[in-house]
Amino acid sequence: MNSLGKNRRSAKIAGVPTFKFPSNFIWGAATSAGQIEGAAFVDGRGASIWDEYFNARPHLDPISVACDHYNRMPEDVQLMKEMGLNAYRFSTSWSRVLTEGAGRVNEKGLDFYDRLVDTLLKNGIEPFLTLYHWDLPQRLQTIGGWLNRETGDYFADYAAVMAKRLGDRVKSWTTFNELEVIVAGSIGTGLAPALNQPDTGVQTGHNLLVAHGKALQTIKNIDPALKVGIVLNLVPVDPVDATPEAARAASDLWDTSYGWYLDALYKGHYPDAIYEGKGHGRLSTKAGDMALIGSKIDFMGVNYYLRLVVDGQGAVCPVPGADVTQMGWEIRPESLSKMLIELNQKYKLPDLFITENGAALDDTVVDGRIHDLGRINFLRSHLQALEDAASAGVKICGYFPWSFMDNLEWSLGFSKTFGLVHVDRQTLTRTVKDSGLWYRDVINAHGRSRHRRRV
Ligand code: GCO
Repeated sequence: MNSLGKNRRSAKIAGVPTFKFPSNFIWGAATSAGQIEGAAFVDGRGASIWDEYFNARPHLDPISVACDHYNRMPEDVQLMKEMGLNAYRFSTSWSRVLTEGAGRVNEKGLDFYDRLVDTLLKNGIEPFLTLYHWDLPQRLQTIGGWLNRETGDYFADYAAVMAKRLGDRVKSWTTFNELEVIVAGSIGTGLAPALNQPDTGVQTGHNLLVAHGKALQTIKNIDPALKVGIVLNLVPVDPVDATPEAARAASDLWDTSYGWYLDALYKGHYPDAIYEGKGHGRLSTKAGDMALIGSKIDFMGVNYYLRLVVDGQGAVCPVPGADVTQMGWEIRPESLSKMLIELNQKYKLPDLFITENGAALDDTVVDGRIHDLGRINFLRSHLQALEDAASAGVKICGYFPWSFMDNLEWSLGFSKTFGLVHVDRQTLTRTVKDSGLWYRDVINAHGRSRHRRRV
């Protein structure tokens, strides 16, 4: 059954809910450079591994236009303002700033981010900047990409360029978005650079963590007051039944896909499953790596979309009767609160931001309005799950739905629409969906209740 249909039947939007988050809670929305900017070969931008990925697959949708945000940025920020966003999470394109990933700075590219930051601040929107959302400069892929530790040194240099130029105005910095998915580009074929080398996963992930530590220290050396964090996508894994095999398979999949990053960041070592070779390939480390990786972060971003259920062989099982999105992902807000509460007990997590959460669902267009009740229900139920986690002591400081606008869902092209804002694929015209209007009302209601609490 179509999940949207189900949602629609059960949904009753009775007024706008007020969520019990602290008064300084940050309401944002998220995007990434490769998915929205377009202007791929404009103003000196160099190619990224994603340009290369699409060049090699000309039948797929082009990244070169995406949402043309590079040219429409002021209009997009205006919409964010109208939606009442407190913050905007975006990523910067490394090859726009450093055409070949290193060396001479491409001033025109850097100027774009300068203008973006100024425009945001002028409109009362706090910039949350991510340095890497999967778009490695192609030139660095030719030297081995993340499998070459030198790439991590270049990443720290790039972080320095950005922090020196924007650190006077951007206070929240994220090194990487979703290590697990970056690794997927190494071991599989569905994401750039599509190396299809299953035995490179563990080393790629480790090198990314080392690069994270180097960039964090570089930024802190430039200005210790800047807040630096990392974003992980976390997918809780449940066993399909009560057998010990299923329990073991679920725990191994979690450890080798998600838990190993958390262990490294917060405990200074990897879980046994990694040393036992249950991940993708073997690990080689250098002295000092784990200390670098364990450098204190100021916050962590969590991207949450779904949970997985596996059998005793580790095969993913469909959940009968589950509500799913266009991606086939189960809609399961209760797993978000449960996961956050458990992780907080295990790791004593720092300040958390939910840096992505959202659903690709069919939208209905009637007389120019975009109806997406399924998305409203999705956002509301996940915000309620976050309230539960917050009341159990998890420090949830802000929420960034994925995504501010419909955009390029990587190799899936424009077919999966996650946005609060609809983007017409022919004209690129933006229209705020019902979910975007609902979100605006939620933000307003929170502001009003904040005001009431103060007086
Ligand atoms: C991710 C990415 C986004 C995706 C989104 C939906 O976190 O996976 O940050 O680029 O578009 O998650 O798949």
